[in-house]
Amino acid sequence: MTRITLINGDGIGPEISDAVVKIIEAAGVKIDWDIQSAGADVIEKEGTPLPERVINSIKANKVALKAPVTTPIGKGFRSVNVQLRKSLDLYANLRPCKNLPNVKTKFDNVDIVVVRENTEDLYAGIERQVDENTAESIKVITRKASERICKFAFDYAEKNNRNEVCVVTKANIMKLSDGLFLDCYRKVSQSYPQIKKREILVDNLCMQLVQNPSQFDVLVLPNLYGDIVSDLCAGLIGGLGVAQGANIGSDYAVFEPVHGSAPDIKGRNKANPMALLLSAVEMLKYIGENMFAAKIEKALYKTLSQGKCTCDLGGNLTTEKFRDAIIENLSIL
Ligand code: NAI
Repeated sequence: MTRITLINGDGIGPEISDAVVKIIEAAGVKIDWDIQSAGADVIEKEGTPLPERVINSIKANKVALKAPVTTPIGKGFRSVNVQLRKSLDLYANLRPCKNLPNVKTKFDNVDIVVVRENTEDLYAGIERQVDENTAESIKVITRKASERICKFAFDYAEKNNRNEVCVVTKANIMKLSDGLFLDCYRKVSQSYPQIKKREILVDNLCMQLVQNPSQFDVLVLPNLYGDIVSDLCAGLIGGLGVAQGANIGSDYAVFEPVHGSAPDIKGRNKANPMALLLSAVEMLKYIGENMFAAKIEKALYKTLSQGKCTCDLGGNLTTEKFRDAIIENLSIL
């Protein structure tokens, strides 16, 4: 039995985690969940939204499924997500964006995987106030981080039978920093002769994405462009309720939906568990449970094709009823 850390989060986190755990159990996957609470609910008792025990659990189990947690505003707490990424060196942010049955969007042929560098760039947090009217943020790009993210993107493409890896920069303007990222891509790409290469500037990419997204396959980007473009791509397939994600490093991986803890709908049995479920499907693939991953994906697609979904997607099912509909479809596959 595989032991996996489950951070069930706060806000809608516990509701959607409960649904996803029940669906995984119903599919027949044997997982020993190491449940770790984190976020707003543990601050009072433990003094921090991310107690050391959570990090230790992931270090021991290597893999975690994480529901969203609230980052308290203005109380001096660092984001749990940023802390997790830093302490576990989760350098790759992976966001597959693919159309889903019956989820109405502008395009019906989107199948893009965004691979975002997760540790540096303008997110390195190096800022200074030069004087009252001037502030500076430093964009850090290193060969080590750029080569490993490009290698990650090509390895992902190879393993998942993708045809092309396109690098996204603004190297025409930031000749040194983005230029270095591009240079690393070109160097790494030479080891993957069977995968098509493509280079594009980030502004042109955004325009092309909203006009003709089906031309793109795997995208690899530095941190800031990756953050923005991955949200754009989430919008192409139906938005927050369906957008899955993963943070992956050399030793550990944390799978989590893109959305937050949605305090406005907490406890109302109306949250969509799909983004967490799809993140869990990606997690199952990561641990080699491909057959179960495919089975759950198929049951979810069938449920959506039957017009069954939660109200954020125009349906009328509660979280629990949507969960049960997926479980019912699992039993007849
Ligand atoms: P949010 O993603 O929680 O909510 C934005 C809107 O989308 C809300 O109207 C919400 O009801 C809706 N929504 C989100 N997920 C949904 C779902 N699964 N089903 C149906 N509707 C859904 O973003 P917001 O309000 O900006 O952030 C709330 C808290 O979450 C903040 O404290 C923020 O820091 C935290 N957050 C945590 C993340 C994480 O743990 N990975 C990621 C993003 C935000």
